[in-house]
Amino acid sequence: MLHRHPAEWQAFARELETARGTVCVLGATDTGKTTLCSALLQTLCDQGLRVAYLDADLGQSTIGPPATLSLAIFSGSSPSVPLYEIPPQRMDFIGATSPEGHLLATTVGVWRLVEEARQSGCDVLLVDTSGLVYGGAARELKFQKIRLLRPDCLVALQRGGEIEHLLLPHERSGVRVVRLPVSDQALRHSREQRQAFRQRRFREYFRGAESREIPLDRIGIYGLPLGTGSRMDFRELNRLSRMLDAIVIYGERSPDILFLVVEGGCGRDRIFSVKEEFGVREVLVVERTDLQSLLLGLNDRRQFTLGLGILQAIDFRAGRLRVVTPLPRLEEVSQIAFGSLRVDPSGVELGKV
Ligand SMILES: Nc1ncnc2c1ncn2[C@@H]1O[C@H](COP(=O)(O)OP(=O)(O)OP(=O)(O)O)[C@@H](O)[C@H]1O
Ligand SMILES: [Mg+2]
Repeated sequence: MLHRHPAEWQAFARELETARGTVCVLGATDTGKTTLCSALLQTLCDQGLRVAYLDADLGQSTIGPPATLSLAIFSGSSPSVPLYEIPPQRMDFIGATSPEGHLLATTVGVWRLVEEARQSGCDVLLVDTSGLVYGGAARELKFQKIRLLRPDCLVALQRGGEIEHLLLPHERSGVRVVRLPVSDQALRHSREQRQAFRQRRFREYFRGAESREIPLDRIGIYGLPLGTGSRMDFRELNRLSRMLDAIVIYGERSPDILFLVVEGGCGRDRIFSVKEEFGVREVLVVERTDLQSLLLGLNDRRQFTLGLGILQAIDFRAGRLRVVTPLPRLEEVSQIAFGSLRVDPSGVELGKV
């Protein structure tokens, strides 16, 4: 496989067969990070090595659906199907197709999967990253990720010196950097093509998904203050409805946040007086329909993601949530992470929240 790629890629693969360890591949978009990781995976597996592939790209995902960090471990034989058809061993749902605005969750998620990979006793851990390489968020994310990973080697795919700014802080403090050329066969993809790719991946993931109910009474929730405070009774909801000139259908009070779900809009200019009256730092008002189609991570007791879901509705009165999910069994779901992206089961992205 590698014979079709630049000679430097082949030399690096041969070196890795004996050096082993953790390799983090960095590069701008469309520089061949995934192509290199896949080729290395194949070569190393063919040599009988146990190889972990951590897909840390939330948008152009190779393993697992978008909006999710995924880990697959290959033992001894190279995959016989395309990587996107491989079911991940572990997933960590982030709920967005870019790490911007989710730097902490992404960093922690990567670390949890790295621990899993290392505990599995792999010979080589390949970390495929996103093409987010410019700006404060990119610098911060890449810097902290590399600190956490402590890679044996950083591989940089560059046309010129376009990601040197990410490499130098580590190289000058002793991290080994291998600079590889971008293949002249690397193709660039437009924004629309990237979006179409994600749509296809979501559509494939939700193909055959069914609508199911999840009772909320023993489920931990992340990403929304739901289930973190005490539920308000209907008299309080009526009072809030009058104060906000809205129909407040659900309310929950915590020491710091008043979380309200409304139907048909609310007087935003009145929120300040609610804040004063209830003595909270924040009043979060969510429109019921904005919750519809939210992407959800359905997590197990270890807080790893069993599968994704799309929220159809929350029945606040009955304490139930209706989701579309391909997961056949929901008994093991003990946590739901609310994403910040709305999608349709056909894969169309409906917007961010
Ligand atoms: N060495 C190569 N030989 C042939 N095609 C390549 C090579 N490197 C990259 N390509 C092609 O270029 C395109 C981009 O490559 P790839 O998806 O590996 O890049 P990437 O850096 O992972 O991109 P992204 O930032 O979107 O994750 C793909 O269509 C891929 O098939
Ligand atoms: Mg890629």
